[in-house]
Amino acid sequence: MKNLKKQDREVYKSIMGELKRQQEGMELIASENYVSEAVLEALGSVFTNKYSEGYPGKRYYGGQEYTDVVENLAIKRAKKLFQAEHVNVQPLSGAPANMIAYMALLQPGDTILGMDLSHGGHLTHGHPVTLSAQIYNFVRYKTKKNGLIDYKELEAMAIKHKPKLILAGFSAYTRQLNYAKFRSIAKKVGAITMMDMAHIAGLVAGKVITNPVPYFDVVTTTTHKTLRGPRGGMILCKEKYAQAIDKALFPGFQGGPHENNIAGKAVAFGEALKPSFKRYAQQILKNAKTLEKELKKYGFKLMFGGTDNHMVLVDVFGSKGISGKEAEVALDKVGITLNKNMIPDDPRKPLDPSGVRIGVPAITTRGMKEKEIKKIANWINDALENHQDTKKLKLIHKEVISLCKKFPLYK
Ligand SMILES: Cc1ncc(COP(=O)(O)O)c(C=O)c1O
Repeated sequence: MKNLKKQDREVYKSIMGELKRQQEGMELIASENYVSEAVLEALGSVFTNKYSEGYPGKRYYGGQEYTDVVENLAIKRAKKLFQAEHVNVQPLSGAPANMIAYMALLQPGDTILGMDLSHGGHLTHGHPVTLSAQIYNFVRYKTKKNGLIDYKELEAMAIKHKPKLILAGFSAYTRQLNYAKFRSIAKKVGAITMMDMAHIAGLVAGKVITNPVPYFDVVTTTTHKTLRGPRGGMILCKEKYAQAIDKALFPGFQGGPHENNIAGKAVAFGEALKPSFKRYAQQILKNAKTLEKELKKYGFKLMFGGTDNHMVLVDVFGSKGISGKEAEVALDKVGITLNKNMIPDDPRKPLDPSGVRIGVPAITTRGMKEKEIKKIANWINDALENHQDTKKLKLIHKEVISLCKKFPLYK
């Protein structure tokens, strides 16, 4: 970054600070990951200069010989990864991808049946504070006491509310979904099916979780979580919905695609097609299972009974009497980054909920395995049980930095 260093010290210094923070910190935010240097290079490429409204072969500006190549590559690789009939790689991120899908499939006022936020759903699945909730009528299904989605209730709600769209997918749910059940309920009431696989896309690409693409009419995702690509979104769908999705994206919702980002997506999808990515996805599952077992040993209560994917949702208030916010702050002090999170029907407030969400995709990218996970669970327990003991927290922080240095990042 020699040019940046010379020209703009302030920005340069903040990037260097962030690099050091990432190198020395234990990143347990379930939606974060570390892209490869190759993806970073594609992101920082001259494609950022180019306008390319439209789609490969049908653009509104000249000079598209290379943007078409890179966008077609991203599409071809994504189709292969997920066995999709049609792929649009232009969504700027996950939230716009969901909005675009709603626009393509629905009319204002139509009903969507989606998962409740506190039961693991996502804001863009109809939380009242979002724009989509002002446009569409969302009704929400929940999980049962045993942690599984209540498919009986889901079916009863579908019959009662007659949704035009049934939406699966989550940002804090840790169990495998029954895709076939979603499909059969939707068929019964004549609804379109959509799955937001943002969190698990990398596990699907690595073939350790069943692929939702064959089951659902439309699948949206982000590309930057377990999939380990640049920050962005993507929509995969059946050919039947291809035209509606493409039109809803452009000119319906977005302008020029970010081709530097699409180049980064193509590189990341190329990486995800390699056998090493399958091993990565397998290790994520092993690490998450180890974390589940270790945390249970320390007396933590895990929501949904445990995990089938890359994360756990822990009721820290119910287990240790410390709120999610306090836990997040205490762990920040020892260099362990995660986020406070609501638990199902949380009696506490969203900004100070009962839970924390812990994910292992980023530390698995660094090469950490079961042995390190055991240490991390121990530190989490130690830091939360002694969250007012500054000396203790400092000691743990030193150990965290020392372990992170053994798994170097962006050398
Ligand atoms: C399930 C799900 N969908 C959509 C999004 C939104 O993605 P973005 O933050 O890229 O807009 C997220 C992000 O947290 C998510 O977890």
